Amino acid sequence: MASRALDERRAQFQRYKEDVKERGKPFYPYAMFHDTVMSLVVVSVIVGLAVIWKFTVPGDHTSTKPGLLGPLYTDKADPGTTNFVPRPDWYFYFLFYLLRIFKWPESVILGTVGIPTILLMIMLALPFLDLRRERRLLRRPVAIVAAILTVLSMGVLTYKGATAKEALASEVVQAVPTWAKREGFSGNPQAVAGAKLFAQSGCTACHTYLGTGSSNLGAPDLTAIGKGNQGAQFFSSYVSNPRQFGNKVMPVFGNLGSQQNIHNIGVFLSVSKGPK
Ligand code: HEC
Repeated sequence: MASRALDERRAQFQRYKEDVKERGKPFYPYAMFHDTVMSLVVVSVIVGLAVIWKFTVPGDHTSTKPGLLGPLYTDKADPGTTNFVPRPDWYFYFLFYLLRIFKWPESVILGTVGIPTILLMIMLALPFLDLRRERRLLRRPVAIVAAILTVLSMGVLTYKGATAKEALASEVVQAVPTWAKREGFSGNPQAVAGAKLFAQSGCTACHTYLGTGSSNLGAPDLTAIGKGNQGAQFFSSYVSNPRQFGNKVMPVFGNLGSQQNIHNIGVFLSVSKGPK
């Protein structure tokens, strides 16, 4: 059985060689030459566009006036904004939705790295696993079913990702009532409003709170940050300008939209004394 398969593959390779000799051009140097020329063209176009973009802007290079290809710089990004919903481009919707199925932090690695890596390894291994010469689709039921399932699941995930209403931030917001109950500040409307703001402002991209969010860039867990009794005023000024307190990593949030907002977040932090 094994030797028959081997014979078959040798015959196939022989046929391929003859075919190339008769009608084809060898990969080296012809195809390589084409690829090299094409790569050069693509890189030159990109470099050309970058030069046009940079040098057609009027005035000096800090100008916000547009050149032929748009302005060099626009207004600074505002880290305190709460109305921007970060969403990927449509062709990443399926991964985006996969991320929502696999909730952090336990299984998120599985969704973001695990599944795509496993699929990629299957693709890499495929030429070594599938050695048959049969190419008629109807005689390849496993491959066909796998292909249909892949396309179908990516289609469904893309559709779900495209129609998913709430962003990740509002998923964090759903945790706010639980936070309020466990930390015992349900009766404090300012603290609850501050907690919502905390959930929506991207704080949980660096800080964790009662297990929600991810811990990044050395940001501490804030579950019991109010234990030190520093008070709402201290936290408000900390968040509005962390630079004053020697924190060079955290974004400067200003007043987070209004004086009331920055006050509420201060109250929220000051009453966060850990789960009751
Ligand atoms: C880009 C990451 C990042 C984001 C986003 C971020 N922080 Fe921070 N934050 C940090 C880091 C890092 C520290 C610790 C700095 C230090 O120890 O010097 C910190 C410290 C703090 C502290 C002081 C903790 C302490 O132990 O005194 C508070 C309070 C705080 N952050 C609140 C917030 C709030 C509220 C938000 C959202 C409005 C937020 N942070 C968003 C990175 C971040």
